[in-house]
Amino acid sequence: MLAFREQISNILSTLTGLDAAEAASYLEIPPEPGMGEYSFPCYLLARQLRKAPQAIASELAAKIEPDRYLGKAISEGPYLNFYVDRLHLFKQLIPEIVRMGTAYGKEEKRHDETIVVDYSAPNIAKPFGVGHLRSTVIGNALCRLYIALGYHVMGINHLGDWGTQFGKLIVAYRRWGESSKLEKDPVHYLYQLYVLFHREAEKEPDLDEEARQWFRKLEMNDKEAMEIWERFRGLSLEEFKRIYNFLGIKFDSFQGESFYNHLLEDTINLAVGKGLARESDGALLADLEPHGMPPCLLRKKDGAALYITRDLAAAIYRHEQYHFQKLVYVVGAEQTLHFKQLFKIIELLGYTWSKHCVHVPFGLIHFKDGRMSTREGNVIFLEDVLNRAIEMAHRIIQEKNPDLHDKEEAARMVGLGAVIFGDLINDRIKDIEFDWDKVLDFSGETAPYVQYAHARICSILRKAGQDGNAVAPETDDSLLLSETGFLSDPEEEQLLITMARFKEQIRRSAADYRPSHMARYLVDLARDFNKFYHNCPVLNAPESLRKNRFLLIEGVRIVIKNGLDLLGIEAPEEM
Ligand code: ARG
Repeated sequence: MLAFREQISNILSTLTGLDAAEAASYLEIPPEPGMGEYSFPCYLLARQLRKAPQAIASELAAKIEPDRYLGKAISEGPYLNFYVDRLHLFKQLIPEIVRMGTAYGKEEKRHDETIVVDYSAPNIAKPFGVGHLRSTVIGNALCRLYIALGYHVMGINHLGDWGTQFGKLIVAYRRWGESSKLEKDPVHYLYQLYVLFHREAEKEPDLDEEARQWFRKLEMNDKEAMEIWERFRGLSLEEFKRIYNFLGIKFDSFQGESFYNHLLEDTINLAVGKGLARESDGALLADLEPHGMPPCLLRKKDGAALYITRDLAAAIYRHEQYHFQKLVYVVGAEQTLHFKQLFKIIELLGYTWSKHCVHVPFGLIHFKDGRMSTREGNVIFLEDVLNRAIEMAHRIIQEKNPDLHDKEEAARMVGLGAVIFGDLINDRIKDIEFDWDKVLDFSGETAPYVQYAHARICSILRKAGQDGNAVAPETDDSLLLSETGFLSDPEEEQLLITMARFKEQIRRSAADYRPSHMARYLVDLARDFNKFYHNCPVLNAPESLRKNRFLLIEGVRIVIKNGLDLLGIEAPEEM
């Protein structure tokens, strides 16, 4: 369909004098099926041509000659609607999808531009709660989309492995900690210590001062402090990695906040040298008021650097290392000001690449039992959420398909998929309420719904194979004659058109930093498949239609599988 879009843009460019890329940017996807695949809003040209949009649309329509690819162009009010030739589209698309298989949708050529994605970034010593789930799944999906588009991607986990909370933890561990418990279940245990510290500090305010001192020791590379810190970090990281593995997520780097310690002095000197930072009360701050933002602290009175100082050092370091074309931060909306300040400082330092830094914010996630907080102790652990999802999926599968051979494997894919998809389907900027029944609803806008369509197609194709009707990749011209009636059913037609939009959706999802487009698209595709299957027999179709319908759904199967894969979700063949 991208080729079709290009063709239309060229036609429009020839007829109107618009640049082809500009014409392409104006093309819209009509809201309803039956109004063409693309439409061009002619009122955009009204002023320049001094004509009514309707007149422009009909004049253009009259000039356009249909060809093999372009079925027809029809004016409708101020719009010019373009219809693709169905049979031609089918003939172009299916062999490509079937030939490429799991690679379909991925650019065959890589370009040498690098995109750095900073995502997940849990805080050590605070648990990996579901709050970090959002960054993890959105970031992972963006990485996969960029890879599909041919970019080099550096996925960086900017671990929260430095900061005053480590002073608190060291104090708590030295007072109340037990090594064996830490070893056994580091993330939960450190979290318990963290909660305990806050509870005790309310009764004994001196604890806070003690924690500050321990953090200072840590900053001075004190041996005992460093040893404890390293142990916390190592053990926690191991556990995080286990969760990432479980989710099938791989990072290219785990350089967290602590990694930048050795660069902070230079970074601060740079800011001072550029006249960007000034002393105030012994602390150092960057004045951002002239830019409409509150000033921002780069170094505290006691000499400690801050979160933003480390981020500044990290951005400069990353630019030097990777010469990125884009640096994307997938971090909650509550840090919007932080990133505005960061990007502004980078710009004021004279780095023109500041405009390639992007904050991709997202809303909060809450369970029906209230917002999660690490302070008060009512946090919900991601791992528990995942396990519960798998368990629930197992129960549902047990009920729906008791004879299924490997229920565990299907439940794992469906349960994890449900949680990931339940997050990604939402417009990321909105807060989401996590509702178990909703994300696991086999007929809702969910992973199981999409996965089920995939499994159903697999089952049809298995049966076809048993009947000696295996799908061969090439479409057979003699079967494509319009007399066979193929693609004359509206459901059949719609399924083809939706399937053909896959690559376009990849681009759109990446351009808007919204994997939700892809998630929604997959729901639409699954729905179109279900409608098609309801109305159009496949296994029992007349001979002249059967083979093409097999090919059609084989294409849909591959697109669903690859689309889910872009979101970091697996598709079972049976469930
Ligand atoms: N660890 C931080 C948090 O949980 C997120 C870090 C995001 N990345 C960054 N470069 N600031 O709030």
